[in-house]
Amino acid sequence: MPCSPPSYLFIIVTGVLLVLVHSQTSLDEDFISIDCGLPSGFSYVDEKTNITYISDDQYIDTGENHNISSQLQGAEQFRSGLNLRSFPTGGRNCYTLYPAIKGQKYLIRGMFMHGNYDNKGQDLVSSPVTFDIRIGLNFWNRLNIINATMTYTSEAIVVAIVNSVSVCLVDNGEGTPFISSLEMRPMKSSNYPAATPNHPLLLQDRRSMGASRIIRYPDDPYDRVWWLPQITSGLIKISTRSLISRYTDDVYEVPVAVLKTAATTSSTSTALNFLWAAPTGWDATPGYLIGLHFTDFQQGQLREFDIYYNNDLWNYDNKKTKPPYLLANYINGTTPYTSDNYLYNISLVATNASVLPPMLNAIEIYYQVQQDEKMTYSEDVEAMMTVKIDYQVKKNWMGDPCLPEKYTWSGLKCRSQGVTSRIISLDLSSSDLQGAISEQFSMLRSLEYLNLSNNDLTGSLPESLTNLPNIHVLDLSGNQLNGTFPEALCKNRALTLRYDTANGDPCSPRSSKKKHKAVLAVAVVVPVVIVVILISAMLMLLFWKKQAIVKSRGQEQYGDHIHIPENREFTYEELVKITNNFSVFIGEGGFGPVFHGQLKDGTQLAVKMRSPTSMSGKGMPEFLAEVESLTTVHHRYLVLLVGYCTDQDHLGLVYEYMPNGSLYDHLRGKNAIIQRLSWQHRAKIAHEAAQGLDYLHTGCVLPIVHRDVKSHNILLGCDLTAKISDFGLSKSYLNVAQSHITATAAGTLGYIDPEYCLSGRLTISSDVFSFGVVLLEIVTGEPPIIPTNGHIVQRIKEKVNMGNIEAIADPRLHGEFDISSIWKVVDIALLCTKEASSERPTMSMVVAQLKDALALEEARLSYSTSDISQGGANAELSINSMPTAR
Ligand SMILES: *[C@@H]1O[C@H](CO)[C@@H](O)[C@H](O)[C@H]1NC(C)=O
Ligand SMILES: *[C@@H]1O[C@H](CO)[C@@H](O)[C@H](O)[C@H]1NC(C)=O
Ligand SMILES: *[C@@H]1O[C@H](CO)[C@@H](O)[C@H](O)[C@H]1NC(C)=O
Ligand SMILES: *[C@@H]1O[C@H](CO)[C@@H](O)[C@H](O)[C@H]1NC(C)=O
Ligand SMILES: *[C@@H]1O[C@H](CO)[C@@H](O)[C@H](O)[C@H]1NC(C)=O
Ligand SMILES: *[C@@H]1O[C@H](CO)[C@@H](O)[C@H](O)[C@H]1NC(C)=O
Ligand SMILES: *[C@@H]1O[C@H](CO)[C@@H](O)[C@H](O)[C@H]1NC(C)=O
Ligand SMILES: *[C@@H]1O[C@H](CO)[C@@H](O)[C@H](O)[C@H]1NC(C)=O
Repeated sequence: MPCSPPSYLFIIVTGVLLVLVHSQTSLDEDFISIDCGLPSGFSYVDEKTNITYISDDQYIDTGENHNISSQLQGAEQFRSGLNLRSFPTGGRNCYTLYPAIKGQKYLIRGMFMHGNYDNKGQDLVSSPVTFDIRIGLNFWNRLNIINATMTYTSEAIVVAIVNSVSVCLVDNGEGTPFISSLEMRPMKSSNYPAATPNHPLLLQDRRSMGASRIIRYPDDPYDRVWWLPQITSGLIKISTRSLISRYTDDVYEVPVAVLKTAATTSSTSTALNFLWAAPTGWDATPGYLIGLHFTDFQQGQLREFDIYYNNDLWNYDNKKTKPPYLLANYINGTTPYTSDNYLYNISLVATNASVLPPMLNAIEIYYQVQQDEKMTYSEDVEAMMTVKIDYQVKKNWMGDPCLPEKYTWSGLKCRSQGVTSRIISLDLSSSDLQGAISEQFSMLRSLEYLNLSNNDLTGSLPESLTNLPNIHVLDLSGNQLNGTFPEALCKNRALTLRYDTANGDPCSPRSSKKKHKAVLAVAVVVPVVIVVILISAMLMLLFWKKQAIVKSRGQEQYGDHIHIPENREFTYEELVKITNNFSVFIGEGGFGPVFHGQLKDGTQLAVKMRSPTSMSGKGMPEFLAEVESLTTVHHRYLVLLVGYCTDQDHLGLVYEYMPNGSLYDHLRGKNAIIQRLSWQHRAKIAHEAAQGLDYLHTGCVLPIVHRDVKSHNILLGCDLTAKISDFGLSKSYLNVAQSHITATAAGTLGYIDPEYCLSGRLTISSDVFSFGVVLLEIVTGEPPIIPTNGHIVQRIKEKVNMGNIEAIADPRLHGEFDISSIWKVVDIALLCTKEASSERPTMSMVVAQLKDALALEEARLSYSTSDISQGGANAELSINSMPTAR
């Protein structure tokens, strides 16, 4: 035995709160479900799960489609097994699963059903098809296909390192790799804590011991597949119809359908055994992690047993196991464990005192992958994946861009730097690239050579490309670019720059402002008369140009009719007109004073003004780039940035007008409370604001971190529709703008992610933290920090621990709310405000929970006379789901 019992101590869950297990929110809109080999463009809804499967054509460019043999149709376990994609050539072939969220935990599953697609099914017994599958660069599994009618399944829990996950099939020279389906399901970061970015968990086995059917989605919100036990002799199935509760910090969230069944044995003298073998050829080093799931269905008689792992006593603290009554509990090993002979045996043996035989609801067996190889620098991978997806690059680009060296992407050169590899050269000449030049190229910070020649690239060159520190060669010839190039690029003597001059020289434009300045500088040394003449000529020219520009705006005219300019850039004169010479001051925002404005057509606007002198010249281009990109971010729960003004010495941001002020005004504002917010209002505002934030995090090409989520920045429109404001600008202006309000460099006291203080980096999960604080503010109506009373998270936790949920709610609500609805909001808020960012949920999970909370309150209002705990689909979510303190 490699280990003695104490070295594989295990954990029995000890939670803080209990909740009744209810059918969890469906997340299937975030599922990626690919039926490999389905003809291009086809999709269908699977009858067993109601999940929509789509063809794999947009995820992979290589391989061949096949149907399984018609004789074997019907033998396949899942409909996706009817067809497959095989890879006779190429060595390594990869699927790029996107979009994924960097840092999010996912369950990934591949299924493999041979089905005699190539008429060689008979040969499998004597010469099996063997190939490897890898996630990114990590070994995932070795498939050893010996049975043409069997569905082989491989599952893993991974944390996405970039905004996509690549799954590669590697040909080992022992038959043609193939795959039938590939699925990706988001999980909470708190699920399966042993799965970390460097250590994916690979599933060896998962069984629901007493079930009579395979359980997966929709019973399991994460669509884990709970298989039936292979050996059933000696097992007796038992089940319950009672409700089952679980601790709120249960990291496994085993579905109700699984917990309501279990296996037991005929008598206390018969042990319950579970056996498995490690795959032949490797010993699953560093070993297996086991999770045993227990819930007893009876209370009257003693059920007590010892657990043996490969014949060693495996009891925690030498305690016997007594499954709790109607409560989900688990025992999980903390140290991976290997056996010498590839054989493993878990055995539950009743104690002498036990009246009832041992029982087991479910078992999960994982092994933890050690990241063995180097990886390409994650920002480089992310940029390349985005370029590949955005431009639909038709190259054999698969898996990690640089590694292994044998499979480095064509057109790329990499250099290894310590434990990572970085891209130094990228040749995308003649690659059919269309559209604007992607900002992603500027994320490749080590790039020395970039050849984009002979494509159909249009538009102007992004300013950000100027910032690549090591760029030596930039070839842009043979495209349809227009506009001028950034001066810094044209003047970079270390750079070989190639471009077309057919439409004028982008490096020495004929009539730019900069040139006028140069002319002026020369004029200083010539006689005064000439200076005067020149200056007047210049002024006339400038005036004429401005008129010309204004006229050229097409339908937008200067004068009485003010419309939103197409390029979203307002002149200062336009702002003067819009705001009636800044006559209606509506408040002081983070950016400066805010004025009411109105367009000719009656559209109301909020105009935020600021003098640019306080902003260093260095920040300006960055600020402009940000503003320009933000005008393209549209969502119904985000305050629209209509345009901006950088005319003369004035800096202005023009926003959609929000007539009902901020959430802060309503909850805690100095001005009289405009309208008392009911719990329904509050739950609706929370749900809408969460959707706005979720969109910032996931709806754009790159996630936008808000950086200053607080109740002041949630504005209310007509019907109290909530919208998030002041997002995305933080990098360049928050620093200056906030120095005059009670805020730190980024974020506002009380709302700041504590992890930011350690890492100095604000991420989307910092926004999640701040949003959690806002949720608590919504529930309590209290400020985040009460000087003598500490932070809201601590205050709430204390009340929750005392079991005093009702005392948490804002007294102004006068008890008019559904208590489970309040609880749901508090529950998610406490998850959002977890100290470790990895334990916080994503905004999409927050949105789902808030949706439930709102639904509960609306149900209360529509059935306010009947007791909702008495029935309906929501019975399990009723008053009884009130957490009890422990
Ligand atoms: C699938 O959807 C249909 C219609 O909405 C419903 O009747 C059926 O019960 C669903 N099946 C599953 C497995 O959820
Ligand atoms: C597989 O079968 C479907 C429907 O029977 C058919 O449309 C498709 O062309 C077949 N695919 C191949 C690769 O033979
Ligand atoms: C192949 O798998 C099928 C279905 O799982 C099973 O019924 C059959 O016995 C297996 N055949 C062999 C030769 O193992
Ligand atoms: C086992 O469960 C505990 C409590 O939920 C958790 O903290 C621990 O990380 C888990 N261990 C493994 C190896 O997953
Ligand atoms: C599994 O363990 C139990 C108890 O330690 C033992 O009685 C049984 O023989 C073992 N089975 C195998 C196949 O090793
Ligand atoms: C249980 O009973 C058996 C036989 O009666 C005895 O040998 C054994 O020591 C007992 N075990 C304990 C832990 O009491
Ligand atoms: C860019 O690629 C084209 C086509 O391969 C090649 O002709 C050209 O010389 C390259 N440019 C540079 C600067 O290397
Ligand atoms: C430059 O090209 C873009 C995209 O083709 C076009 O929208 C824009 O109007 C052009 N600008 C100029 C000044 O020609």
